[in-house]
Order: sequence, then structure tokens, then C-alpha cells
Amino acid sequence: MSETVLLIGGGGREHAIARALADSDCTLYAAAGNRNPGIARLADGFETLDATNPQAVTTYANEVDASLAIVGPEAPLEAGVADALDEAGVYAFGPREEQARIETDKGFQRRFMDRHDIPGCPDFAEFTDSEAACEYIDEYDGDLAVKPAGLTGGKGVRVIGDQVTAAEAKEYIRDSEYDRIVLEERLVGEEFTVQALVANGDRRVTPAVQDHKRAYEGDKGPNTGGMGSYSDAELELPFMDREDYLEAVDILEATVDALEGYKGVLYGQFMLTADGVKVVEFNARFGDPEAMNTLPVMETDLLDVLVAARDDESLPQLSFAEQATVCKYAVPDGYPTDPESGAKVQISPENAGDARLFYASVDEREDGIYTTTSRSFAVVGVADSISDAEAIATEALERAGTDGLRVRWDIGKPELVQSRIDHMTELRGE
Ligand code: AMP
Ligand code: GLY
Repeated sequence: MSETVLLIGGGGREHAIARALADSDCTLYAAAGNRNPGIARLADGFETLDATNPQAVTTYANEVDASLAIVGPEAPLEAGVADALDEAGVYAFGPREEQARIETDKGFQRRFMDRHDIPGCPDFAEFTDSEAACEYIDEYDGDLAVKPAGLTGGKGVRVIGDQVTAAEAKEYIRDSEYDRIVLEERLVGEEFTVQALVANGDRRVTPAVQDHKRAYEGDKGPNTGGMGSYSDAELELPFMDREDYLEAVDILEATVDALEGYKGVLYGQFMLTADGVKVVEFNARFGDPEAMNTLPVMETDLLDVLVAARDDESLPQLSFAEQATVCKYAVPDGYPTDPESGAKVQISPENAGDARLFYASVDEREDGIYTTTSRSFAVVGVADSISDAEAIATEALERAGTDGLRVRWDIGKPELVQSRIDHMTELRGE
């Protein structure tokens, strides 16, 4: 029987999921708050709806007679969309609301790690009272990261000694309206992501990826949802060893075991420090942009994973092409602080050359595609080496033009990759 898959979410990550499913033996429908022209072209139907409304999503799932669903973003998971789909008889590849707390509640996340003795947990404390949090900052011996406990789209964290001073951090806490704040030891090192596909007690891990959260070149400026990312032709990244990658995999496995019955993607954001691998956070879904690195090189059919997950079977082993990837987001001028929308997007699947194009938040009008105030689209180069993949991504952007857009050209370039290697060498005192 051919499957009918409902994809929830309309960003670059979901465009990559749609692309991965497009060649499979399934009928694809998509639902999201914003219409993604790339997904709409690949799907048999695209419904614009509130993806955080479980009722709206299940109604559409029933209407298209979906036999499976995959939930891309975190907000629907937090809203219980996976629970509602499961209860409506449509298996959702994505955790239930309670298990998605591993992402949606950073206080829960740290307490959970502590309770289950999961390795890599930094020192932390949780506060509901802002004055008590400020006092902890004054008394703590070392720098701290300030994290609102709830979802902030990756933009709520302030790291003392990196982005802000202790005084600015206290002002941030006092001026904010967050109910709960987590303060944790500042981790110093190089960040990387490892994602696992999880169901029926099985977990299948994917190659490491490094995202770039800072808005401007050289890792300057405010945090964003992610400006671009790269992966290498092997499981690890150039600044780490295979043992470091395996240490991260062990942490993911310990977390999956402790979560009991988790299904969907478990995303680990790690910091490789002088003392080994530590956990920055967990997410309950594919990363954006990381999905755009991982799915284009995944040779295993994603549909086979989803079907095995639903049918209570063992998940297939994953195989990946031994190729490097570089993903670069184009964002509107002024993003993230003062984004200007309305620029015409010149790139299209037809003129993207060897690069893959994934739309994120764009506005399709009769005479073309225009930017909004969020990240616009990403291009991904896939090649034998990171520098060749970078050249493919850059060439596509240069050829099409980036008027009204900003790109972090430095992502994936040899100089930036080398600076990561040097950073780790220095920290490890090698
Ligand atoms: P998150 O929203 O938890 O992904 O945090 C956003 C970014 O803040 C991370 O990607 C890190 O760069 C930084 N960050 C979060 N927690 C820490 C920490 N404990 N130490 C240093 N940096 C952190
Ligand atoms: N790349 C960061 C995230 O997906 O949260």
C-alpha cells in the first residue's frame, strides 16, 4: 500500500524533508502557517493553517487520509500536535508534548539529565525569582549562560563573558518577563550537532554538523536561528576526533534510554570542551539548518524509517554518502534586529547551478518570490570536501545575486574551518 504522508511545517528544514520524501513511493501533503513555494511544488497539496492548533492539523490529516505524519518544528510539538495525531490514528514521527519538554523546557532538560546521570551536564540552577538569579550571578565563581526556560527560537540566551557582562546579564533578567530562568556554567569550546532518528527503542545517528548562530561574519553580533552550517565527508568534523563524536553519540543514547518510548528526532547540541563533550541543549526535531546538511547526503529512504517507526519495527540502518556539505542562509538586510522585507528573490531552482535551494520564509506573489522579515532561503553545496561544497554554495548565490539579502560568506571557508581547529588545539593544550 502506498503511504500518504503529512508534513507539518513550512521552513527550510521542512523543504529538505519534503525533498527527501519526494522521490519515495508516497503521496505528500503539507501544512504550515506560511506557504513555502518549494514544498508546495513537491507536494500534492499544501494547506495554510495554524500548525500549533492540534484540531486544525488532525482535521487536515483526516481530510487527506494521511497514513503517517512528520512534524518539523518545535512549536507544534509543544502544542501537543503529535499527541493529537496519534490519538486520531495518524502516527506522528515526532515526540509527544511531555517528551518534547526535553527541548521546550530547559529547566526540565537539565533536571532530567541530572536525575538520570546523563553525562555532559554543566552546573546549573533554576530560578523563578529574578533577584535570586542575580544574586547567584554575583556569587558564582565563573561565567554563566542565562537561559529563559521556555522556547525563544534560539534567541533568548545571553552568555556572560561572551555576549554580555555580568551587569548586562542581570539587567536582562530584571527587564525580562520570563517566568523561569536557568543559569548554567558557561561552556567554552566548539559547538557541534548530532541528530538521531529514534523509535521503538532504536536510534540511528547522523553525521556531525556545525551551525553558526551569530548573525555576522567572524561570529559577531546577536544570535539567530542559525545562519548556515557544514558537515564533512565523514562522521566527525575537522576540529574533532572520532572519539569525540562517539562520546556525543553515547550521550544521545543515554538520553533516548532515559526518555523511554521517545519517537522522532532527538537533536543534541554539544560543546567540545577541554574536558570532553558537554550538552548545550537537546531539541526534539531536526535542526534548521542542520537538516539541510543531513538529508541531502542520506542514502537511506526517509520513508522507510517513518514506516518502520510506525509499524513498530526495527529502524533501518542509515547510510550516508561520503560527501561534505555547506549550507548558507540568505536573510533579509537588517536581520535579525531590524529586518527589511520585500526584496525580490533572484535565485530559483533553475539558476541555482549545482547547489540545492531550500526556501524558508518567503512570500510568493504573481510576479515572483519576495523576502519577509525571517530567514529567506538556503543554498547547499554537496561535494567531496568542505571547501568544494562551500564554493558551490557561494557560486549559486553570486550568480543569482543577493540584493536586499545578507549572507555569512565566511561559513565553510577554509579560514573559518581552520580557526575552529586552532581553537580546539589551543584549548586542549596540544
Ligand atoms: P540554545 O538556545 O540553548 O541553543 O542556546 C543558544 C546558543 O547559546 C548556543 O548555541 C550556544 O552558542 C549558547 N549557549 C547556550 N548555553 C551555553 C552554555 N552553557 N555555555 C556557553 N554557551 C551556551
Ligand atoms: N540549528 C539550531 C536549531 O535548529 O535549533
